[in-house]
Amino acid sequence: MKNSTNDLEQALAALNLTSAGESWRKSWPASQALFDPGKLFFLNPEFVADTCRTLGMAADVRDALIRALDIFNRHPELHRLAWHGHVLLFQTPGDTLRFDEWPRIPRELGESATLFYAFVVLSGVPALLKKQRDLGIPESITLDTLSDIELWIKEHRNQYGILGLDAIGWLYNHMSGRLFKIGRLQFRFEVWDYDLHAFRRRQSRQAILLAGDKMPFREDGQFADADGAADAAPAWVSIFDTSRAGVIRGHPIAPEGHARPNTVELARAEWDEIFKKGDPALGVHIPATGPMSHQECGESFRQACRFFPAHFPDRPWKAFTCTSWLLDPQFERQLPESSNIVRFLGEMYLHPVPKANARQTYQRVFGPAFESLPMERMDEAPQTTSLQRILVQHVKAGKRWRMGGCVLFPEDLDWRAQVYRKVLRADLPDLSAYIEKRSSDALG
Ligand SMILES: CC(C)(COP(=O)(O)OP(=O)(O)OC[C@H]1O[C@@H](n2cnc3c(N)ncnc32)[C@H](O)[C@@H]1OP(=O)(O)O)[C@@H](O)C(=O)NCCC(=O)NCCS
Repeated sequence: MKNSTNDLEQALAALNLTSAGESWRKSWPASQALFDPGKLFFLNPEFVADTCRTLGMAADVRDALIRALDIFNRHPELHRLAWHGHVLLFQTPGDTLRFDEWPRIPRELGESATLFYAFVVLSGVPALLKKQRDLGIPESITLDTLSDIELWIKEHRNQYGILGLDAIGWLYNHMSGRLFKIGRLQFRFEVWDYDLHAFRRRQSRQAILLAGDKMPFREDGQFADADGAADAAPAWVSIFDTSRAGVIRGHPIAPEGHARPNTVELARAEWDEIFKKGDPALGVHIPATGPMSHQECGESFRQACRFFPAHFPDRPWKAFTCTSWLLDPQFERQLPESSNIVRFLGEMYLHPVPKANARQTYQRVFGPAFESLPMERMDEAPQTTSLQRILVQHVKAGKRWRMGGCVLFPEDLDWRAQVYRKVLRADLPDLSAYIEKRSSDALG
């Protein structure tokens, strides 16, 4: 095997690639010091075939991968890049990885260059299988989790007409053991990043979300900067006041997903804060494997409630959370009650998210080519499914789609009961008039 260079810039130049980012330049010498052509086990056709078999990949994907190995013969410099990717992905702390800086291997190097990162990802499969076996994780869960590799290789074909793998940053979650597919849904260890506060009433177990302090809202309870209106003046700004003894005052978020302009007061003797920004969560993700049947989603949550405490007793988490295009509460008015999306929304405590816009909605419903489709060109969007048609009609009526967020506490799980709307709803009295009167009394 010819290894023309151990210098990153030379290797990239030999491949006609533009310079890699700072993170690659910094880490390159250390990985290349360990470079040994004999360690490139993952570029061996037998390894690739075996791994594809273990993962249950379709024959056409497996054959394409084996054929794609030929690019390493034609471009020996790619050996060092693949080794570097392998070392970064599997021997480097995750928080230093800047996936946006990983060089794209262009199609000009050969039709199969788009599969280059698939080899890097597959190189970690045997070690991951062993690690998860040692943790007592059922192999069926590990393999189901890893089925996302093939899904994203095929997604590349859906988007660009050719098998490939771009989603390396996403798949790092799977390869590093942060994400698991449990039934229909995927769950990832995450930290909640919204300045919202969840409280629970001790006796009744009612739950309520309050907005954080000084958050700008519109009249309809969405954030003022939603729908691309970065500089819009807010209709009102939230208060989250913990300064008074015995009481917390704040603006509730209705479980249907909008903030309310009137404040409520929660007596500290009755209410406990159960979830806030920075708390550990299990982020929920919905892979594109077909419809999200309501029953399967409920079963996924139930299984996750058993799986994580059993296998990760030292990684506590407080809630299931999700941010997604499909958490837009407007779907509840636009799609039929029988829609899986609508039924999912009904089970969750929905909340608005800052800077919410339609990008992901368009991307996931019309396709990536339509991500930034302007309003006046909506007729160009595909119109095959009812959802696609509804999306277009809504925008033509002058309205906007946007992302939303949600929370579901594991102790509240009672799928189909719509717990936050019908069981644990905290219909608190509107105390704002009383509070205003009291503060004017104090002033007077
Ligand atoms: C999330 C997902 C599984 C929901 O699909 P579903 O279970 O069929 O949802 P619903 O039952 O509510 O669908 C209602 C209608 O919308 C259509 N629809 C749903 N998702 C659609 C999508 N992403 N694109 C186009 N149409 C879609 C359905 O086909 C159905 O139309 P029909 O009445 O003409 O048959 C599906 O959108 C999907 O796989 N998306 C890709 C993955 C994704 O977006 N994950 C979340 C990322 S954060």
